[in-house]
Amino acid sequence: QVAAASGHTVVLVDQSAEILKKSTKGIEESLKRVTKKKFADKPEAGAEFIEKTLKNLTTSTEAAAVVHSTDLVVEAIVENMEVKNELFKTLDKFAPEHTIFASNTSSLQITKLANSTTRQDRFAGLHFFNPVPMMKLVEVIKTPMTSQKTFESLMDFSKAVGKSPVSCKDTPGFIVNRLLVPYMMEAVRLFERGDASKEDIDVAMKLGAGYPMGPFELLDYVGLDTSKYIIDGWHSLEPNNPLFAPSPLLNKLVEEKKLGKKTGEGFYKSK
Ligand code: 3HC
Repeated sequence: QVAAASGHTVVLVDQSAEILKKSTKGIEESLKRVTKKKFADKPEAGAEFIEKTLKNLTTSTEAAAVVHSTDLVVEAIVENMEVKNELFKTLDKFAPEHTIFASNTSSLQITKLANSTTRQDRFAGLHFFNPVPMMKLVEVIKTPMTSQKTFESLMDFSKAVGKSPVSCKDTPGFIVNRLLVPYMMEAVRLFERGDASKEDIDVAMKLGAGYPMGPFELLDYVGLDTSKYIIDGWHSLEPNNPLFAPSPLLNKLVEEKKLGKKTGEGFYKSK
């Protein structure tokens, strides 16, 4: 959405036509929200902006068939190293020589993903934040193999889509999640110990620390499954780090398929 809105030609790829239909609808709805504010006094210009953006966007279920015409691949599939590596390995065969591969992974090591391809110098992390149309940040992650040219191209691309890029080494969680995920897990542990209610913890962090959402609202927003993937991955890397300890409550909710906003219930029932 943000790439198409800033004039880039985008092919959105997913597993089925049904998912793509849902995604396109989500983009249309989000564009309406963005346009309402941006073109408050000019509804015609707003409608034109939406039309132009959607014209820049096509969809496909065949990544290998469309990658031949791309300069940049931004992968944002399931947080599973094997599945991601399998995709990158395939795309590496069909993509042009110059094409840069980037992963939007929240927590997996970029170096390991880059090693599934033959283009380690043209591989980096490009990490966006939910909701992407609103959040101004992008983390650009350079591995020891990423070339300076690739890094600069991604910094330029981030600016071209209207974001403010920061850079970080290829370390667990990069900057934001390294601080945010342990904070959210500490909130769950505070609640698990019975020290405070989740409602009070959320109110406290909003009114006492100026956060736009409390930690439980944010966990529901990000997805409990995503949060669990992240913490489990880090726990296996550093089993003795108490900040990365899994939470029985989070595990139970994920087991019950209470994944947050996307399933209608997580820590809270969605309105
Ligand atoms: N598309 C377009 N516009 C959107 C939007 C979307 N998906 N979601 C929200 N907005 C717009 C609304 O239309 C509204 O616009 P307005 O000012 O013109 O009315 C504006 O954002 C504010 O929305 P709301 O009034 O509905 O609610 P809030 O004031 O609470 O703002 C929020 C919503 C921007 C999501 C804010 O609550 C927020 O910043 N929350 C924290 C988000 C955060 O921490 N994200 C990082 C998560 S971690 C992550 O993504 C990393 C990953 O790897 C796990």
